[in-house]
Amino acid sequence: MKPTNQSQLNKIISDRTNRLSPSGIRKFFDLLAGMEGVISLGIGEPDYATPWHISEAAVKSLERGYTMYTSNSGIPELRELTAKHLKARYKVDYNPYGEILITVGVSEALDVAMRAILNPGDEVIMTDPHYVAYSASVILAEGEPVMVPTYAKNSFAIEAADIEAKITKKTKAILIGFPSNPTGAVMTRQKLLDIADVTRRHNLIVISDEIYARLTYDGEHTCFSSLPGARDNTILLNGFSKAYAMTGWRIGYAAASQEIIAAMTKIHQYTIMSAPTPAQVAAIEALKTGEPDVVEMVNSYNQRRKFIVKGLNDIGLPCFEPKGAFYAFPSITPTGMTSEEFSEKLLVEEKVAAVPGSAFGECGEGFVRCCYATSMAGIEEALERMGRFVKKHKK
Ligand SMILES: Cc1ncc(COP(=O)(O)O)c(C=O)c1O
Repeated sequence: MKPTNQSQLNKIISDRTNRLSPSGIRKFFDLLAGMEGVISLGIGEPDYATPWHISEAAVKSLERGYTMYTSNSGIPELRELTAKHLKARYKVDYNPYGEILITVGVSEALDVAMRAILNPGDEVIMTDPHYVAYSASVILAEGEPVMVPTYAKNSFAIEAADIEAKITKKTKAILIGFPSNPTGAVMTRQKLLDIADVTRRHNLIVISDEIYARLTYDGEHTCFSSLPGARDNTILLNGFSKAYAMTGWRIGYAAASQEIIAAMTKIHQYTIMSAPTPAQVAAIEALKTGEPDVVEMVNSYNQRRKFIVKGLNDIGLPCFEPKGAFYAFPSITPTGMTSEEFSEKLLVEEKVAAVPGSAFGECGEGFVRCCYATSMAGIEEALERMGRFVKKHKK
């Protein structure tokens, strides 16, 4: 049956899918398609190709005919290395046999985590603004996303007291993602300890998306499950996309208690079976020999971070200092435009792509997200064009 109008279409498509609004980022990139000479500060991914020795490990495994399914949970060696990595970096213990699940990126881990723990109507507290898939993953699991507003004046941190104020009988979990996409915010250890205290007292699960953990520029990343008493009610998500420049390989993982991982594995085995085999081989290589590459890339992002933040402030777009990830999140209020207006006009008039902050939630209004994982020359040129644009439109 081919639907002829919206109400017919609504009957075909599930309510939970209809509840999803199209990603504000996608909408924006549709606009961009086909334009020439655009400098993109838009897409949130490394500008590096995967280090060749990592890709080569996968190529060699293909040459050896290593093309079958793996264990549902992932190649044992990858789980063992992941556990070793978590122990060495964050001093947190996970048993690779039962407490780690290899997934198709953090994207799958997030979806499966929500579906494993939520009943219809369960509430999940998260920051506004947040990474676009956070609220979507809750809605697709028939839960209710509940927003805690965060602000530039507080460095976009989320406060335990604000979380506690949103807790109801239906609250099941807190979803946090630091360093943050889109703001670049990180949390102090003390603020995370305060959240751990609230979640313990209210018996809530914490889903901690730490995909940008390695891209922390000022001090050490605190892994949520390493906090005293936090491990057993935390689902830790992480992956290879950002730190190792491996977005297209699609490998991530979840680490949690045996009971939670068993539940997540049930969903994963029926929907995914196992993460792609060559990509798991590449991830093994990344964990074995990729550390110098990570250090080199992080140093380079850090230089670009300092450059773009100073540049944005200099041209009159106040920008709080992002301490992680690869995003700057300047305020565009001096122009008097909405985020969408700003992004669209900037694209049309100056051919610079930056994502409207409103794509990440109501508190993102008045900001744009600028990904600085692009060349220094590109950033320099983008700043020049943005400077001209701001001068022209300043109120
Ligand atoms: C905060 C955050 N979490 C998860 C993801 C998805 O990562 P993956 O490539 O591992 O699916 C992204 C990608 O942009 C992200 O920014």
